[in-house]
Amino acid sequence: MCGIVGYIARKQNPNSLKLGIEALKRLEYRGYDSAGFAFWDESKKDIFCQKAAGRITALEEKANIAVNAVALSANPLILHTRWATHGGVSESNAHPHCDCQNNIYLVHNGIVENYKELKEVLQGEGHQFRSETDTEVIAHLVEKFFQGNLEEAVRKALPLIKGSYGIAVIAKNDPQKLVAARLSSPLLLGLGENEYFVASDPSAIIAHTNKVIYLDDNEIVTITPDNFSILKEKKPEEIEWKLEDAQKGGYPHFMLKEIMEEPEAIENSMKGRLLTEDGTARLGGLQDIVTRLRRAKRMLFTACGTAFYASLVGRYMFEEYAGIPVEADVASEFRYRKPIIDENTVLLCVSQSGETADTLAALKEMKMKGVLTVGVVNVVGSTIARETDAGVYNHIGPEMGVASTKAFISQLTVMALLTLLLGRQRNLSLVKGQRIAQDLQALPEKARIILTQEAKKIKEIAEKYYQYNNFIYLGRKYNYPIALEGALKLKEIAYPIHAEGYASGEMKHGPIALADQNFPFVFIAPQDSVYEKVVSNMEEVKARRAPIIAIATEGDERIKTIADDVIYIPKTSEMLTPILSVMPLHLFAYHMGVLRGNDVDKPRNLAKSVTVE
Ligand code: G6P
Repeated sequence: MCGIVGYIARKQNPNSLKLGIEALKRLEYRGYDSAGFAFWDESKKDIFCQKAAGRITALEEKANIAVNAVALSANPLILHTRWATHGGVSESNAHPHCDCQNNIYLVHNGIVENYKELKEVLQGEGHQFRSETDTEVIAHLVEKFFQGNLEEAVRKALPLIKGSYGIAVIAKNDPQKLVAARLSSPLLLGLGENEYFVASDPSAIIAHTNKVIYLDDNEIVTITPDNFSILKEKKPEEIEWKLEDAQKGGYPHFMLKEIMEEPEAIENSMKGRLLTEDGTARLGGLQDIVTRLRRAKRMLFTACGTAFYASLVGRYMFEEYAGIPVEADVASEFRYRKPIIDENTVLLCVSQSGETADTLAALKEMKMKGVLTVGVVNVVGSTIARETDAGVYNHIGPEMGVASTKAFISQLTVMALLTLLLGRQRNLSLVKGQRIAQDLQALPEKARIILTQEAKKIKEIAEKYYQYNNFIYLGRKYNYPIALEGALKLKEIAYPIHAEGYASGEMKHGPIALADQNFPFVFIAPQDSVYEKVVSNMEEVKARRAPIIAIATEGDERIKTIADDVIYIPKTSEMLTPILSVMPLHLFAYHMGVLRGNDVDKPRNLAKSVTVE
């Protein structure tokens, strides 16, 4: 979604605009459709602003023409990538937005929910609007309160806004300041050597500093070339990611790189946590609440997108091996429901980014009711990670591809670790726990086998099928969520292909009507407790001549006689099969997307982290 970068240096830095644009490019992965920047130009004693619809390269092209004409001392500087919400994709709707006087320039992530009311009032007071955005009202509000001190004006304007914001603001008539603030939208302050950064995402600034301060809701930071001040005194933290993590490392796309990192993701998420001899797991972030977890009688999972499908797999695991009743619901529904809770209910929020608006809202709602909240989050220091009572980090480095791949694998791995922990606190026997732990240990190697032995075949299958327009994915029990995830990935990446995931047992209640030679069916059919049932469904589809692609256990010759194309995965215990069976589906979706000519890292209309409702 939208991205913010801000920069202010102690001394004039002739490279500041270049540096800012590079930082902005590191946010491209989040998805956007226009971009812009504004900076104080000391030589002209004025603010220079440039915007463009489309990619950052379009902005650069425009800026090159204009920027050559101005002295390059961009300090302070604010930049933005916009993902359209209110108002279409156009230069006038791109950020920064400014007030009537061309004094205040502002970039914003989030949504101003009461912008219509505010706009009416401001228009009534004579303010002239130039865009269709909700953001522009903030610029005019700041203008309304501006009396020479930018920080003061921002402080007065923000309480009038309902909704969410991360903002960075500069002013022509108070030019030595960059003011930033947040409410329910991520924002951090980066502390470099003689320079400060503001960013909505750590990836933007890791090339320059790993020392950051994550802003909390309602905090306002004022940065000058020499200093910064936040309402509360806060200690800097370190970003644990490396710059290489946020680069493609020789791969044509982040998505492919991240799929190739899936075996490593399993390893990294398990590192130091698996106690094989005891058949359990030790999760540092849960140490303080282990006794409360022991008392838990009910678990509620909430998440969005791919993280929700990981939660569905978690439900099967927890129920089968930990004997805990589990409910899982997408956060956008959960937040408006009235789930039945008591003092022994635990909420688990699963989120790669830790910033997804619906997941965060569901979390806040449950926190208010006194429910114990636990996060499974990848981004260290993110809002969900900080708001939950306790949590487990995925430890897989940044995920840059918009469609989640290695994070899903890691979320499933963490689910398995949690199952061991919760199961062993209850009725899971030592021997069974040990067996699961051993299977987990063997998993990275098996994952590598898929990526080396089956990769060529998966690409060939994609070449055979990429012109079909519709697909259905079917799986059962542990692999039902994998059918959902496989279909989601295909439509996200290989649009306009339409794909649907279904519980295999539901096939006869509808999807079979679609079966004919133009409609491929993808079956996830490992040799597990529901294997025979799934194979029967395959036979039924075959009888109707639909092409079949199957994910099967290595050595399963029978599947070959039914399916047109088979991708094999190594054998593992039933509860861990989803970790392996989803990998070929990620790779398949990737190749299909590339063959369809799509920008797989930045699929149209999608955002990496959905920070607005
Ligand atoms: C967006 C992304 C998905 C992701 C979902 C949830 O839709 O495109 O890849 O699964 O958000 O994100 P989270 O960061 O909460 O896991």
